[in-house]
Amino acid sequence: MKKILVTRKLLKSNEDRVSKIFDTKLNLNDELYSQKKLIELSKGCDGILSSLTDKLDEQTINQLSNTTKIISNFAVGFGNIDLEAAKKRKIAVTNTPDVLTDATAEITMLLILGAARRASEGIEHAKKSNWKWSADFLIGKQLTGARLGILGMGRIGRAVAKLARAFGMIIHYHNRSKLSSKLEMGAIYHDNIKSLFSVSDILSINCPATKETENIINAESLEYFPTGAIITNSARGDMIDDEAMINALSRRKIYALGLDVYKGEPKLNPGYLNIKDVFILPHLGSATKQTRTAMANLAINNLDEFFKTGRCKNKVN
Ligand code: GLV
Repeated sequence: MKKILVTRKLLKSNEDRVSKIFDTKLNLNDELYSQKKLIELSKGCDGILSSLTDKLDEQTINQLSNTTKIISNFAVGFGNIDLEAAKKRKIAVTNTPDVLTDATAEITMLLILGAARRASEGIEHAKKSNWKWSADFLIGKQLTGARLGILGMGRIGRAVAKLARAFGMIIHYHNRSKLSSKLEMGAIYHDNIKSLFSVSDILSINCPATKETENIINAESLEYFPTGAIITNSARGDMIDDEAMINALSRRKIYALGLDVYKGEPKLNPGYLNIKDVFILPHLGSATKQTRTAMANLAINNLDEFFKTGRCKNKVN
């Protein structure tokens, strides 16, 4: 039986399943393992079922046990893992695409609605019972007819587009390559971010974190937006230069911001806390029972497929 280090606590049904198929080292107290501890615990393990909170950088990967042949990440994103370092050590890295697409698109709509309709301020007033209805109380921005720019039109971007169409939004997008018209479903392609941002009443960030997308929202690119635009990020915090964003919010270049992800999570730039038009969530994109169960099952299947066949369709390195 292959031995697997499971770095974080999974839902009960998933822990039962992974323990049936493999000889597991579970993390029953859901401790956040240090890199040193991950290295130590990898000893004798054939694989690691990791999570986005495990920082598997080059140094850590180089010290993992020689027995470790696969890191199955319990996430669609894999910015927490140095893919090249893993490849050099002949360690396969896999992810969990598709199964979290709808849940993440749903949370994106929550961010868009929360930012556009001033939900953070509304919640504060409602909790304090210090509000009085009036014709101009907490007036926000309506989605109907608004132009939604989608940065990254992969599976999640396209699922956001589908939901946003139901709200009457007009979809624009930028992607490394133009989609087929079947996948575009009428969305308007922009071959550069300046062109996309300049027509985005609302921008939804749905691209992966890469060297090219790091700080793609910065002091210069924020100026491309129409004044009063809304930005949401349900992908990774790396894409936003926080200081530039806080500055743009404070001078109302950007009307509101919706965030589910942050640079250096769980910390966020404290500058955001002083701005009332920021709607924030603690990385809940895939947080439904259905989706988390499916993600862990896929991470387990990836391990199983790899050990049975020597490959895996969800290998990313
Ligand atoms: C969640 O953020 C994921 O990448 O799965």
